[in-house]
Amino acid sequence: MKILGISGSPRTESRSGSIKVVKKILENTGCEYELISLHGKNIGGCIGCMACVDDNVCKLNDDLKTMRDKIVEADAYVLSGVNYFSTLNAVMHSFLERWYQFRHREADILWGKLAVNVSLGGADPSPPTEVLNAFCLYNLIKVVTIQPTETRINVPC
Ligand SMILES: Cc1cc2nc3c(=O)[nH]c(=O)nc-3n(C[C@H](O)[C@H](O)[C@H](O)COP(=O)(O)O)c2cc1C
Repeated sequence: MKILGISGSPRTESRSGSIKVVKKILENTGCEYELISLHGKNIGGCIGCMACVDDNVCKLNDDLKTMRDKIVEADAYVLSGVNYFSTLNAVMHSFLERWYQFRHREADILWGKLAVNVSLGGADPSPPTEVLNAFCLYNLIKVVTIQPTETRINVPC
């Protein structure tokens, strides 16, 4: 089983709690895995152009392009979001909006894959988990955590 871990924090590895949590989960699976951080990635949100409708391939030319094959080839995901203003942070939201490309013409390319969703917050880590779960539902990905996996991390300004 191949697992793709996505740390949705925009912060560097040395400052981000998200990447540490995702790495720890991946290491404990005993499976083959790859960990990608969205730090420094240029990923815009879906622009609703519908150019992916015919072939399930997004035509926007940014950093998601090189990640598309890894998303399709993975059997399971560890998805991590961080709480920014009581919801999922922007770059992770943009990243997951672009998974719209996988859903057309009953292709449901990600159907049946598994996900463990993790969220972090300074005070309240729970809001991003609900958003991550909803994105998985839209792509028929089975979320295997029963309770949200949440971590509180205080970050000095
Ligand atoms: C712009 C911004 C907004 C934030 N908003 C919230 C919030 O509404 N609620 C909360 O609990 N934490 C909030 N936080 C704290 C982060 O969720 C917390 O520091 C998280 O651990 C960051 O994860 P990271 O270390 O992987 O980047 C915010 C942080 C930033 C930078």
